[in-house]
Amino acid sequence: MYESYYGLDSKPFQLTPDPEFFYASKLHKRAMSYLQYGLSQAEGFIVITGGIGTGKTTIANSLLDNMKEDIFAAQIVTPKLTPDELVKMVGAKFDLDVANKSKTEILEALERFLNQLSQQGKRALLVVDEAQNLPLETIEELRMLSNFQKDGRPLLQSFLLGQEELQPILRAPNMEQLRQRIVASCHLAPLNKVEAKEYIEFRLNHAGYEGESLFTEEAYTAIHEFSLGIPRRMNTLMDRVLLFGFLEEVETFDVEEVNIVIEEVKSEMYIPDNKMPLRTDASNYNEQDGAKDGALYTANGTKINETQYYRDMLHDLVDALDDALKHKIKLTQYIDKLLKRKYQAYVRLKTEK
Ligand SMILES: Nc1ncnc2c1ncn2[C@@H]1O[C@H](COP(=O)(O)OP(=O)(O)OP(=O)(O)O)[C@@H](O)[C@H]1O
Ligand SMILES: [Mg+2]
Repeated sequence: MYESYYGLDSKPFQLTPDPEFFYASKLHKRAMSYLQYGLSQAEGFIVITGGIGTGKTTIANSLLDNMKEDIFAAQIVTPKLTPDELVKMVGAKFDLDVANKSKTEILEALERFLNQLSQQGKRALLVVDEAQNLPLETIEELRMLSNFQKDGRPLLQSFLLGQEELQPILRAPNMEQLRQRIVASCHLAPLNKVEAKEYIEFRLNHAGYEGESLFTEEAYTAIHEFSLGIPRRMNTLMDRVLLFGFLEEVETFDVEEVNIVIEEVKSEMYIPDNKMPLRTDASNYNEQDGAKDGALYTANGTKINETQYYRDMLHDLVDALDDALKHKIKLTQYIDKLLKRKYQAYVRLKTEK
């Protein structure tokens, strides 16, 4: 929508990981060379950890993008798999027929496939995303898969991408066998202020922006503070900042403009932690006051002691969500109005020509 206003050929802050838009900070460059070294080993495991949205999938995709010709990569993104499901999924991802096949049959077919691939001078790579969610016995199955060999040469290498929780899993005493097979690992930290600015400029330029800097230093600081240097948060914010700029015809963004958008985005990013829904104990349940003994329980039955604190927090949460909803409706109406106005101006200009 705002692309032509800012002279862009494409959207600079898409959320999908795109190797074309890969920005390599000093740390990324170091991580890339290290990971490339790991890949060249053609065996064992390469591990990438990092917080949510820091770029694990992006760095893995960029790495693979450079080596498309030599590697047959299969990516698994559904992580809560039993060992048997894992084997089936790996088979399917390598285009093997797995329907109605036993685990042994699939493993045999997999070995044949890996051998053929190796004869063609190619190799296989398994990319397991969100690996922090893999059950331990499935990680163990992965390790078993890494044992396929021909003439002493390993046939399958694996990439494990995961959030920080993956680190303690790999550090566990019973993971020693897997640990010894890790050939390279890196941890992605959020971008610092200088990198965040470079990241924004890089993505803008890559999308075709050629003008003067769109942001003042203070605006960059505000963007970095709000996004915490996490690329996905930066992308979400920047997309909205540019939309706002287009609608309000902003040529250079200062901290005021950025802060307006931050306030808008803030309310929309207020996501409740509903992984463990609260419930009242059924036997004590009472419509009027929620529970007779006033106690609240988590989904797995643990009693919550500071009930009042959580009640107040939930009330605040409901209020905040209400506000966010109202805000969103208002914003949609506002955008709608501005778009109509722009469209009318456009039609007028066209007819006057
Ligand atoms: N180095 C980078 N260069 C360019 N864009 C990046 C970089 N790192 C991350 N991004 C962008 O940030 C967003 C999130 O990246 P990505 O999906 O790779 O994160 P992730 O760590 O895999 O997230 P999750 O924890 O949800 O799996 C994407 O839009 C991606 O394009
Ligand atoms: Mg990811």
